[in-house]
Amino acid sequence: MKQKAAASAPGKVILFGEHFVVSGRPAVVTAINLRAKVEVVLENDKTIFRSRQSWSSWSRKGEPVHPTPPKTSSFTPLYMMASKIMEDHGVSSCFRAEIYSDIPGGAGLGSSAAISTALARALSNLFGLNLSTQRLVEYAMVAEKEYHGRPSGIDPHASAYGGTLLYEGPGKFQPLQLGISPEMLVVFTGLKRKTSDMVDQVVKLASENRREFGELSSLYSEVFVRSVEALKSNNLELLGRLMTINHYLLRALGLSNEVVEKCVEDLLRTGVYGAKLTGAGGGGSVVAVGRTNQEAAVFSLLSSYPKAWVVKTSCPGVRDEN
Ligand code: PMV
Repeated sequence: MKQKAAASAPGKVILFGEHFVVSGRPAVVTAINLRAKVEVVLENDKTIFRSRQSWSSWSRKGEPVHPTPPKTSSFTPLYMMASKIMEDHGVSSCFRAEIYSDIPGGAGLGSSAAISTALARALSNLFGLNLSTQRLVEYAMVAEKEYHGRPSGIDPHASAYGGTLLYEGPGKFQPLQLGISPEMLVVFTGLKRKTSDMVDQVVKLASENRREFGELSSLYSEVFVRSVEALKSNNLELLGRLMTINHYLLRALGLSNEVVEKCVEDLLRTGVYGAKLTGAGGGGSVVAVGRTNQEAAVFSLLSSYPKAWVVKTSCPGVRDEN
């Protein structure tokens, strides 16, 4: 057992297939260069989680010390995951976890999965468990289920494996080798929302409108097939057009709103090849792929949003840090 360890994991952008992936259709996800880092240090009698915004602690016996119930902590899913890792490996220890993340929460960029995956890897190192990447995903899913209800698992796979993945379900994915990993624009609308609420909304809509949902899913499947061709051949213009079509399908599922529409329209007006909401929708972020000679127009637009990035795609997955 070490005294301390650290790991980081990337956030992600879903390029195609959010929500459709929950009902079993394949999606395309790429790891981006916004990361969450977690440092863990052995402690004597308390387990503490701390981020820039807040902190929580549990006694050695597993009782919440701060905040005390009835208030629940946003770190509870992480504590549950850590407890499961320790229980499965016969470890009984207290630790402090310091979380540093570039990824805003509730923005559709995989913040919770990046933190869970980085924490699982840091604990694996701290306790000398040598957990495989797939085991890290499985543990991150423990926290994801607490945070999101019924996650497809796409986020922890992207955080753990990195790169660009064709993702169908837990353990069912293929890395996609891209000739060039295009840079993309990611704009956070500033509207945070809960993934589980948006997923429930779509599940309800799908069960009440089976035929229409089936038709939209079939249209999505065609977009998916062409998106893989576009990615493999580095055809960014086609990729952008397909992203915009995917956005319209998500809009038909009721996942857009005025704020998201304005953001997509603003981006399209600058001449990008395409733009779509990414993640659960209802706010969150918009991703766009564009031509470089539009940069001036794009940058002046980006400054009018709360947060925006030109991100690298196909970035490395979870890794150890000092
Ligand atoms: O907004 P995010 O990062 O939580 O992405 C959710 C993607 C969904 O397809 C809507 C849900 C899921 O678990 O796949």
